[in-house]
Amino acid sequence: MKKDLLTLQDITRDDLEKIFELSLKLKNERGKVAFKPLAEKSVGLVFAKSSTRTRISFEVGVSELGGNPLYLDQGKMQVGRGETVADTANVLSRYLHGIVIRTFEHSEVEELARVAKCPVINALTNDFHPCQLLADLLTIKEYSGKVDKSIRMAFYGDGRSNMANSCILAAKLTGMELVIAAPEQEAPRTDLIGDAKNIIWESDPVKAAEGVDYFYTDVWVSMGFEEERARRMEIFRPYQVTSALFDKAKKDAKFLHCLPAHRGEEVAADVMDDPKRSIVFDEAENRLHVQKAVMTMLMGE
Ligand code: CP
Repeated sequence: MKKDLLTLQDITRDDLEKIFELSLKLKNERGKVAFKPLAEKSVGLVFAKSSTRTRISFEVGVSELGGNPLYLDQGKMQVGRGETVADTANVLSRYLHGIVIRTFEHSEVEELARVAKCPVINALTNDFHPCQLLADLLTIKEYSGKVDKSIRMAFYGDGRSNMANSCILAAKLTGMELVIAAPEQEAPRTDLIGDAKNIIWESDPVKAAEGVDYFYTDVWVSMGFEEERARRMEIFRPYQVTSALFDKAKKDAKFLHCLPAHRGEEVAADVMDDPKRSIVFDEAENRLHVQKAVMTMLMGE
């Protein structure tokens, strides 16, 4: 693997298979087999945005791998008062064996990784959320037995969000079919799709559901976009994932959501809470297992 995980463009299909294999091994052996590749190592968890799943799964993950997790509130660090990202990266590299960062601008994470001597993992920026997609892909593998061109996923909502962008990179990595169901104002980034034939934009939410194995959505107002709330509620309203959409999909289609979910906005409550369709908590659990695998591969050797 490359030194850092900033987007899914940093991993190959071969890396992905190794992540799956190690994640499943760690999942099966959790609490039964001691595995401490981060013993005597410290990992900084720098957060400039709120988090439940990411913060906790990384803190627990580093501890379970034998390491020392340090939660660092970016707002309380000197970088929040004007110290450069490069100087911060230089200093953190002298103390830490890895940096996990959640912040706003993706360029900040790129700069951190450029200067830091230790591996850097992107725990969400305004543009990408690779750890989430690794957990999602593992969940698809568990339910479908494979993640390849035979899988059709539809992402509903903001086609230019960090989650839509990450789904595009996941489709490019795995070959799965991806339909982005989004309004014209927030159509997916063509620069990310490139010439990929397995990724399409569909503005008709009903048409987008045809033959789908996995529905995916995310909140309509991401962190940092709160001032756009009214506009977003209006344009994304037709893209709520409802049980009616499942009539167009494959028979046993499942529902994925990175969480937190807003019932009645991006997803209807009866979909979110349907135990036959919703696999969102398996998905959330898999954050822990894939991140342990990634940290082992990047920081444990
Ligand atoms: N999916 C996700 O990243 O959740 P948190 O914002 O709670 O970390």
